Amino acid sequence: MIKKLEEISAQALRDLEAASTLEALEQVRISVLGKKGTLSDVLKTLGSVPAAERPAIGAAANEWKRKIEAAIETRKASLENAVLQAQLERDRVDISLPSRLPHRGSLHPITQTTRKIIEVFSRIGFDVVTGPEVETDFLNFEAVNIPADHPARDMQDTFFMGPGVVLRTHTSAVQMRTMRNQSWPLRILAPGAVYRNDSDATHSPMFHQVEGLWVDRDVKMSDLKGTLLFFAREMFGADAKIRLRPSYFPFVEPGAEVDVSCFLCRSKISDSCRVCKGTGWLEILGAGMVHPRLFEMAGYSEAVRSGALTGYAFGMGVDRIAMLLHGIPDLRLMFQSDVRFLKQF
Ligand code: PHE
Repeated sequence: MIKKLEEISAQALRDLEAASTLEALEQVRISVLGKKGTLSDVLKTLGSVPAAERPAIGAAANEWKRKIEAAIETRKASLENAVLQAQLERDRVDISLPSRLPHRGSLHPITQTTRKIIEVFSRIGFDVVTGPEVETDFLNFEAVNIPADHPARDMQDTFFMGPGVVLRTHTSAVQMRTMRNQSWPLRILAPGAVYRNDSDATHSPMFHQVEGLWVDRDVKMSDLKGTLLFFAREMFGADAKIRLRPSYFPFVEPGAEVDVSCFLCRSKISDSCRVCKGTGWLEILGAGMVHPRLFEMAGYSEAVRSGALTGYAFGMGVDRIAMLLHGIPDLRLMFQSDVRFLKQF
């Protein structure tokens, strides 16, 4: 009977090894250890064995049963592991596959240009200030020395919002606001939208300026030139040059229009340069020494009398600079929100 037990057990162990699925394994377990299993069948005949031999057979049977159960557990663990591995393999994510890029927005070319200008001037101590786009007639015109009969106030140029209220026509209004609110010394930069009743390929009723103002004792025209040359080099390249042409703005004296050398043809005057149109120069800003009348309007008269309080101011067109830098032919493209245009920046 012991021999029989051994045979059954050895067969069971082989069957276990051969079982390739958890279901097959369970079948093997039932066929050996189940109520009607082969091992149980053998033990049912224990009654016919002489009493003296029974303990030894019982012990052997228990030993085999333990071994088979242990073998089942081992086999079960390995089959379960195989199932898990197969599952993981099936659910595998191929992380090497390039993903579809999410659509990324970008900053408008005018925002980019404004930020670049601010970045350059903030490196040399200019603070950014802002003012309202709906401005008083007083701060936009009167206080910056543009009297009531000045042509700039003509209906053709200015959007009037109501009596004494306009859409600011230049950021120079922010110069005056800031001076009236703060004491000198001042070194400020005022970016923002301005409005003029004008519209064609190079003019838009709304456009953008950045105004600069430095007020302190002994500020000189040479400081203005040095600052603008620094700006031109940072903005347009290390070999940029500037040129000042005498000009008139009511709020500065003397005043100048400032050109930078063409960054595309590098002033190698040629008719074919699409940026400077063969002139070699790009007109980008107006500038000058703050008119003493503005200091009076700002309430700085005392300081002017008691010492050499002076200042310079400049104002530049951001849209024009962005157009030049990117070779944009028509200003209106900037404000049409056409994605095909904007995507390029
Ligand atoms: N405000 C002038 C304009 O709009 C620019 C400017 C600013 C000129 C400061 C001189 C000084 O054209």
